[in-house]
Amino acid sequence: MAAAFEFLLDDEHRMIRDAVREFAQNEIAPVAAHYDETGEFPMPIIRKMGEMGLMGIEIPEEYGGSGLDTLSYVLAMEEVAKADVATSTIMSVNNSLYGYAILRYGTEEQKEKYLVPVASGQAIGAYALTEPQSGSDAANMKTRAVLSEDGQYYLINGRKSWITSGPVADYFILFAMTDPEKGHRGVTAFIVEGDTPGLIRGKVEPKLGIRASATCELFFEDMKVPVENVLGEPGMGFKIAMSVLDVGRIGIAAQALGVAVAALEASVDWARQREAFGHKIGEFQGIQWKIADMKTRIEAARGLIYNAAMAKERAKETGERFTLEASMAKLFASETAMFCTHQAVQIHGGMGYSKELPVERYFRDAKITEIYEGTSEIQRLVIARQVLGLRGSC
Ligand code: CAA
Repeated sequence: MAAAFEFLLDDEHRMIRDAVREFAQNEIAPVAAHYDETGEFPMPIIRKMGEMGLMGIEIPEEYGGSGLDTLSYVLAMEEVAKADVATSTIMSVNNSLYGYAILRYGTEEQKEKYLVPVASGQAIGAYALTEPQSGSDAANMKTRAVLSEDGQYYLINGRKSWITSGPVADYFILFAMTDPEKGHRGVTAFIVEGDTPGLIRGKVEPKLGIRASATCELFFEDMKVPVENVLGEPGMGFKIAMSVLDVGRIGIAAQALGVAVAALEASVDWARQREAFGHKIGEFQGIQWKIADMKTRIEAARGLIYNAAMAKERAKETGERFTLEASMAKLFASETAMFCTHQAVQIHGGMGYSKELPVERYFRDAKITEIYEGTSEIQRLVIARQVLGLRGSC
């Protein structure tokens, strides 16, 4: 089925999309139901994706990545998510929330030590911002980092929740309050090694969807992190967290697009073969209108995603923010994913509710895209503040 906005892609983009599609359909889609059912972390797939250069797509080759542009990243993300959303979540955090954070804010030493292994897919990175009492209100964190008297290290105490890849990550970007009186300006970002004494991983969270993407709580008990592991400057942490989320949200939008497309393709196949009242159900207007609405929303989402990807690409030269573009893409694409997977279950009828077909998994997996990396309500708030020129917009 032809996609819109093809004119924005060059031959290299098409080549990358085709290669990732082939890999994802041959190697990921056939085992997605297994990983969903068992909740196992798909390590063999992640390792292969690393070898293919998918764990650091936009990271320059000198730091272990593939050195491609943002459009290539969203094309690859769509294809992986179309095969399995959980796998694409692991890919997304590695590439953006972890990889981009170190690429943009890390020192040369930090990039050598902490970016190269993750971007090349030999190690897994995670991003620890959320706490039990601070999800949407991210600045309200309680995790505390106190500088030692000799100025050599920070002593960190607190906890983080809902950490994607938390159970298996080798490295974390951790946000902690170093100066609570300054509010969000008192947050500092740290790079933490997974085997640091005092870092305790909680149990793997049982979830509705993306079950193979392992998620857990983290506890910090007198954990010492050397000062050279501060990312950026002390007090810069909240801006780092927010600017990195701008990047992450473009990837989540592409992930949402992938699962929406998977739901549409399954629905079209079904509508062409399933018969009722002596006709293929695709001949009925009730089904046709669902298909039409799915396709239209998908291509509108694609437009917003490519627009955000290109804004991020331009930002490499101009340094301008692409907060508005990223939030619009994430909002619209995630709501499109929910709409399309909901319609897909309905079109499939009883079979849409069965684990024999993947559409019930698409439906469960799609929901998270409206929640993580900022809920739809937070995206609306960000978009409105940008349009109105209010707080946080500049
Ligand atoms: N880029 C750079 N700076 C930014 C920024 C951005 N996108 N957004 C805000 N800032 C800056 C502002 O300019 C402001 O700077 P000053 O100190 O100079 O004033 C500062 O940050 C504070 O901004 P706000 O006043 O807007 O902050 P706020 O407290 O009102 O919060 C918010 C804004 C949009 C609600 C924000 O808290 C938010 O995005 N919340 C959602 C958090 C979220 O997405 N969590 C997801 C967790 S990660 C996850 O899900 C990952 C996973 O596992 C897959």
